Amino acid sequence: MPLNQCLLRVEELRYGMIVAQPVVAASGKVLLKQGAFLTERLIRKIAHWQVEYVSIVLPYHVCSAQFTRMYKDTLHSIAATFEKVRTFKEVPLADCRELIDNYVELLVNIVGVVDRLYKVKAHSEYTFRHSLNVAILSGVLGKWLGFKGSDMKDIILAGLLHDIGKAFIPRGILNKPDRLTPEEMALVRKHPVYGYHMLAENGEIPEPVKLAVLQHHEREDGSGYPSALRDEKIHGYAKIVALADVYDAMSSERVYRAKMPPFVVVDTILDEMQEKLNTQICITFLANISRFFVGSSVLLSNGSKATIVKLNDVLRMRPVVQLENGEVLNLADERKIEVVSVLDEIFTAAMS
Ligand SMILES: [Fe+2]
Repeated sequence: MPLNQCLLRVEELRYGMIVAQPVVAASGKVLLKQGAFLTERLIRKIAHWQVEYVSIVLPYHVCSAQFTRMYKDTLHSIAATFEKVRTFKEVPLADCRELIDNYVELLVNIVGVVDRLYKVKAHSEYTFRHSLNVAILSGVLGKWLGFKGSDMKDIILAGLLHDIGKAFIPRGILNKPDRLTPEEMALVRKHPVYGYHMLAENGEIPEPVKLAVLQHHEREDGSGYPSALRDEKIHGYAKIVALADVYDAMSSERVYRAKMPPFVVVDTILDEMQEKLNTQICITFLANISRFFVGSSVLLSNGSKATIVKLNDVLRMRPVVQLENGEVLNLADERKIEVVSVLDEIFTAAMS
């Protein structure tokens, strides 16, 4: 069997997978064509046909329309689960685990998921989108750091639940477009403790997940909250979630500001967060994520469109670009021109 496909049992099939080999009935009739996109309905049909195995394309390459559909479906399930949390002030753990097994893990394994996350447009409450994005980014980071199996599931769960304590904070404050008052800010900063207390009594939730929820705003230099912990006092999962949280917050559009291009986010993390976030995790993240900037289409401040051909080591936000007329510009030298935004075209960078 070629390396880029694997044979899965029908019960292992998941939404969004692509069929690598046609499935043929004993009569010779083609039940499932090569390249078919698996939906929940199709998976139920396959089970009904009593097919035992299906060959699936690996890793999951999906087009942007498929990614958007998967992302929106996942978001829809998260919104329903989090509404339960807001109402009952309790985490439906079985729902969360099902969400991770059926959707989030699949998204984590999509080629170029960080790039796709940046471009996906979904109209949903920020907290839901942010929780999903942090779950995915924590999973991707966990994968890059070498975590596997149940550890990966726990890291994704920690990402998904990291802001669960915000269920205790009025929506009016969470979605406020203006600057928060000191009292409101103090309330918002209690969300890690609220979240921890919500999970503390649940014996089925692993302790590292609870600690990640409690400590995701702690910083290596002791400048974080709620306990101003330093270095090794902060759990490793909390450090992973912290970076995913910072990256997503900076690269998302908010009511009060536009989203920053990913390489500007990287630059800002390098500049401002080096003392605050774990160095090893930052290096792993930045080394992996930088790969997808090359090949990106961008808009320059002089109105030209260009493609990034190389990143400059020190001045990442001033890359070498190629204009549509073929001219190559090194923005490290051309200080009057800057990158304004990343264009929404489909990039071909292969990043797993
Ligand atoms: Fe938070």
